[in-house]
Amino acid sequence: MRVAVVGSGYVGLVAGACFADLGHTVLLVDNDQQKLAALKGGQVPIHEKFLPELLDRHRGQRLRFSEDLHAAVLESDVVFIAVGTPTTEQGEADLSYVESVATSIPSALNGYKVIVEKSTVPVYTSEWIRKIILRHAADPDSFDVASNPEFLREGSGVTDFLFPDRIVIGVDDERCVSVLRTLYAPLTDGSYYQRGDAIPRPDRAQIPPPLIVTSTKSAELIKHASNAFLAMKISFINAVASICEAVGADVQQVCQGIGSDRRIGHRFLNPGIGYGGSCFPKDLKAFRAVARECGYDFRLLDEVMHINEEQRQRFLRKVRSALWTLRGKRLAVLGLAFKGGTDDIRESPAIMLVETLLQEGCSISAYDPAAEVRAREVLPASVQFAENPYAAVRDADALLILTEWDEFAALDLERVHGAMKYPIVIDGRNLYDPESMAEQGFTYYSIGRSAATPEVRSSPSNVPPRAVENS
Ligand code: UGA
Repeated sequence: MRVAVVGSGYVGLVAGACFADLGHTVLLVDNDQQKLAALKGGQVPIHEKFLPELLDRHRGQRLRFSEDLHAAVLESDVVFIAVGTPTTEQGEADLSYVESVATSIPSALNGYKVIVEKSTVPVYTSEWIRKIILRHAADPDSFDVASNPEFLREGSGVTDFLFPDRIVIGVDDERCVSVLRTLYAPLTDGSYYQRGDAIPRPDRAQIPPPLIVTSTKSAELIKHASNAFLAMKISFINAVASICEAVGADVQQVCQGIGSDRRIGHRFLNPGIGYGGSCFPKDLKAFRAVARECGYDFRLLDEVMHINEEQRQRFLRKVRSALWTLRGKRLAVLGLAFKGGTDDIRESPAIMLVETLLQEGCSISAYDPAAEVRAREVLPASVQFAENPYAAVRDADALLILTEWDEFAALDLERVHGAMKYPIVIDGRNLYDPESMAEQGFTYYSIGRSAATPEVRSSPSNVPPRAVENS
C-alpha cells in the first residue's frame, strides 16, 4: 500500500520505517528541514534499537522523506497523523498540529483515502478531524477517519511495533476496516515473522498479534486508559515501596509475590524514582482533563501524579540522609534520560534530580550512554560529563544510579569502589542486591529495601523496623 506518515518524531519515524519493512511504500513528511536533511543523509535522529538497520534497509527505496504534505497525501492510500500533541497550560492536549494537518488534507483527496490518527489524542479527536476535512468542502465519500493508537515504548519501539500485544483499530465506518486490515496483514497473518530478515522476536511475543476493531472513541480511550493504568501500576508499587522501607520489608520480594498473580503480572511493577518521559506525564494530565470535561472527577489520576512527584522528593531525602549535608559534595550520576535504552530526556526524573542537587551546592559528574548530547543542552555548564561510569565515580562522595541501563547493572564493582572517595551507592532503580553490595564494601541505599552497610548487613533477622531514610 502507499502510506504517508505525517510527523517524524518517535512514533512517526518508527511507524514509517516499520511499515516500509512490512512491504509498504512510505512517504514520511515533516516540516523540519534540518531533520529531513539529516534523515535523507543517513543520520538517525533518535536512539532506537533496530531503527538504524531499518532505515538503512529502506531509505530512498520504500521509505522516502518529504516536506510536501499535499503531494504526499495525493500519492497515498492511507495517511497517518503522527504529529506532536504537547500539553497546554491547562493540562489539555494541544491539538493545533493535528488540526493544521487535517486542514491540508481536503485539497489532496484525489480518490478514497483513510486518514488515521496515530498521535495520542483525547476522545472526540477523530470526529473533529472529520468535521474539519468536511468544512473544507471535501466529498464525504472520498475519505474515512480512523484511530490507530500506538503502544510502542521508546528504546524498544521497533520491536514493540512489529511484535505488538495487540493492534487497535478504531473506526466508525466499516469501509476503512479492510484497508487497515490489509496494511497490518503481514503481522496479523504471521507472514512477516516467517521472513529470514525479520527483526528478532522478543520474549513473550504473541504471534500473530490480535487485531481489535472498536469505535474511534473507544480506540482513543484505550490509548489514554492504557497509559494511565501503567502509570498507576508504577505509582502503586512506589507507594508500596515506601511502606516496605518503613517496616523493613523488601519491595522486590513483594513484587515477586504480587506479580506472580497473573491477574496482576510482573511488568511495570518496578519501583524507582518515578515515571517520566514524553508520554505518561503528558497523557495523565490530558486524560484528567478529558474526564473533567465530560463531568467525571478522576481523582485517582491526581493521586497517581502526586505519588510520582513525591517519589522524587523521597529519593532526594534519601540522598540527604546518606550524606548529611550536600553543599560541596561531589556526586557521580549514572543515567540522565527518563529511562534506560533511550536518549530522551523529556520530563526525566534524573535531570530534575540533578538540577535540584546542583541548587543544593553539589558538584555532579555524570555519565549516560546515549543522552549526553541532549543533557548538555539543558543542564548548567558546571555539570561534568564523564566518558564512562568509572571516570564518573572518580573521587565521588556518592554514586547515584538514576536509569536502568544494562551496563549500569554490570559494573566492575571493585573498580568503582577503588575509584570513589566514599563507597556510598544510592540506587534509584534497584539494580543491585543490598547484601552483596555490603559484602563488597559499599553502603548501599535503594528503593523499598533496607539500607545495607559493610558492618550491618540487611537480612530477615536483623532488618531494622524503620525507614531507610531515617536510618
Ligand atoms: C509509554 C508506554 O509504555 C507505551 O506503551 C506508550 O506507547 C508510550 O508511553 C506512548 O504513549 O507513546 P515510554 O514513555 O516510552 O512508553 O516509556 P515506558 O517504558 O513506559 O516508561 C515510562 C516511565 O516509567 C519511565 O520513566 C520508566 O523509568 C518508568 N517505569 C516504567 C518505572 O518506573 N517502573 C516500571 O516498572 C516501568
